[in-house]
Amino acid sequence: MKKNNFVLLFLVFGTVEACIRTQPPVTTTTPKTTTQRTTTPVPPVCSKCSKNTGLTIDLTSAGAEPFTSITTGTDANGCFTQTLSCTSTVGISTISFNLDQNGSISDKPTATVTLVCTDDGTGFQFTQAGVTIDVTTIGCFPVNN
Ligand SMILES: *[C@@H]1O[C@H](CO)[C@@H](O)[C@H](O)[C@H]1NC(C)=O
Repeated sequence: MKKNNFVLLFLVFGTVEACIRTQPPVTTTTPKTTTQRTTTPVPPVCSKCSKNTGLTIDLTSAGAEPFTSITTGTDANGCFTQTLSCTSTVGISTISFNLDQNGSISDKPTATVTLVCTDDGTGFQFTQAGVTIDVTTIGCFPVNN
């Protein structure tokens, strides 16, 4: 009698334990596949200009001289820029836009303008006081003696 009870007990517990053991885990954790997202922003088209993209420096007009310095950079929108400085030794310097068709600016002793590559990347623009002009020719006219 006692032996039979023990066997029965064993069978009951054994069965319960076996059931627990074979139960599938409640939550299955699927390993995360880390998709590498490219975080490198696509450079804007206006970043693709170089110094002479659609731009001529006037060296043939009377009084035209090479710019004293030209430095390139990038503006807040990622557009290529170039800053041209025209310095006089004894007076005012004038920077002329499109052979004076779009005016000029003057300062003493150095006139400086920053040109920004256009959205289509084919040339340069100059903006001052809310007015933007397309600049295809630019000239430095210093007063040197
Ligand atoms: C620049 O000059 C050209 C030629 O005179 C003219 O057609 C154009 O309107 C001018 N641009 C601006 C913004 O004044």
